[in-house]
Amino acid sequence: MAQKVNGNLNGIRSATAERIRSLYDIKMGQKEFASFELISLMSELTGEIGREISVYITRDGRIADVSVGSDRKVDMPSMRVVRNEDRLCGVRCLHTHPNGDGRPSGVDLGTLRSMQLDSMASVGVSDGKPTQLYAAFIGDENDEGGREALVYGPLRPYKLPNAALIAEIFISDDRFRSVTKAVTESEPERAILVGMESGEAYDTLAELSELAKTAGAEVVATVPIKKRPIDNATYVGSGKAEELSLMGSELEADIFIFDDELSAVQQRNLEETLGAPVIDRTTLILDIFASRAESREGKLQVELAQLKYRLPRLLGQGQGLSRLGGGIGTRGPGEKKLEIDRRRIRRRIYELEEELSEVEKQRGLRSSGRRGGKTPLVALVGYTNAGKSTLLNALTDANVLAEDKLFATLDPVVRQTELPNGTGVILSDTVGFINKLPHDLINAFRSTLDEVREADLILHVIDISSDYHDTQMRVVEDVLAGLGAGDAPRIDVFNKCDLLPEFPVRIMRDGARKRAFISAKDGRGISELLALTEDALSFMRSAVDVVIPYSRYEAVNFIHEKGTVISEEHLDDGTHIKAYLSGADAGQLKKLLGQ
Ligand code: GTP
Repeated sequence: MAQKVNGNLNGIRSATAERIRSLYDIKMGQKEFASFELISLMSELTGEIGREISVYITRDGRIADVSVGSDRKVDMPSMRVVRNEDRLCGVRCLHTHPNGDGRPSGVDLGTLRSMQLDSMASVGVSDGKPTQLYAAFIGDENDEGGREALVYGPLRPYKLPNAALIAEIFISDDRFRSVTKAVTESEPERAILVGMESGEAYDTLAELSELAKTAGAEVVATVPIKKRPIDNATYVGSGKAEELSLMGSELEADIFIFDDELSAVQQRNLEETLGAPVIDRTTLILDIFASRAESREGKLQVELAQLKYRLPRLLGQGQGLSRLGGGIGTRGPGEKKLEIDRRRIRRRIYELEEELSEVEKQRGLRSSGRRGGKTPLVALVGYTNAGKSTLLNALTDANVLAEDKLFATLDPVVRQTELPNGTGVILSDTVGFINKLPHDLINAFRSTLDEVREADLILHVIDISSDYHDTQMRVVEDVLAGLGAGDAPRIDVFNKCDLLPEFPVRIMRDGARKRAFISAKDGRGISELLALTEDALSFMRSAVDVVIPYSRYEAVNFIHEKGTVISEEHLDDGTHIKAYLSGADAGQLKKLLGQ
């Protein structure tokens, strides 16, 4: 490709023109915003010709265009022109100001915005030497719908915080995308999924693909990678990253989603090589949670988990920027932005934690009120999409959203219902569990999952039609154990039996392990499941039928507090109570009554 210098070359000697053309030969390193070699040669040439010189630098560090003169009409056939409205164009402009003043002009900032440049950097030149550099980036949207420019400077050209300025390009890109995303939401993002083969039978990439679809993405490729040592810099290794980058451009991918958690460094490096945003499984799950949370508590929990996940990943980015400027009075408007971001996030985390503990306190009050009579609590748990909500609907008249999407249920749904024998129970539907559910996330939902920890009986709903139901069961068991609910009495409810070639026997008792085979959809097996539930609960509770003398009123209070009262009658010789109590409480009652 002929590398021609554009713009006004009139009157410039051919030897000088040739040196200007040689700017094309300079290449930036991976983390180099603008090398000193480039800045000084541009300044020297500017000094000679007394005109502006501009270069356009791609994200991989090539000089894609060199022009002379203030009329920066750029002819960039070789560049990725603005393909998408919702992203930067992937090219930064570095240019000189022959008058010695490096501050960006209104025209400079206008060009930054209209071309959606990665950055517009200007170097003040005096006597052929660079004096100062300013770097402008597209900032947040203002009230009028326009965009602020964030200007960093004056910076010392021989001591640029290169890595920080490169990081700022990506931050600017994110900022840009997050605002424009809402507008272009109708078009699904084209995602490439990448995961390391684990050697396990379970296909976590298939699940990741379901998650991506739930989040609204279109999966254009799934790339399993042979197991290899994890590369600290790029997770997959630089060769593989290059391959992925090619694939990304071929398939016009908008985003890469990795199956495992990435470190801040890996994510940054990958974004640089792949030229597209990179997120990991946790970020994806959090994103889905964020769009699903309905209750105040759910929303607070998701935001908290998101911020906690993001905070350590902010560290390491742009550390140089917080120290920009140097002297008092020289700070640019966007100065210290990352510091402020971090501080803001920490403050928000604190606020959220405060608010959540308030909400939880109220919730605790509500639920202890609700459970005052010790109505047994039955918790439905299961892998996401197993059919918990559908079963809850079948068991009660609750109209809980049942959707063929992962995580339709995020907030716990609690319903009171009666078993056929008249025992009232509280049923709760909880967030679906999932493989590799990050620990922080479980913690975030700890209070929501209280229902599970406190449950008198757990119904573990399993999608028997899934090829992976064994692994899914194990995942759920692990999460339950992690919650401290591993030993609670349990019924394994194998759901979606209607999808099997033959409907199995409906219930099985295998020692302590109880199993039900049902179809929550068509209702088969439900009555057997209810009978099994009654069984399990009555086994745990003793029926008491006593007359308590009026002198022992504390025993009456005890039954009210601990048990479920079925009937209460005041007779001449005392209070006649029929109630259910747990075995231990029944023993305690006997002691109270001196029996
Ligand atoms: P999360 O909220 O993700 O945890 O899901 P969930 O476990 O609450 O699952 P949900 O009840 O939303 O059901 C998921 C999908 O499975 C829906 O499309 C249901 O219609 C379907 N489904 C549920 N039970 C049955 C069943 O017995 N048979 C069949 N064929 N489909 C079922």
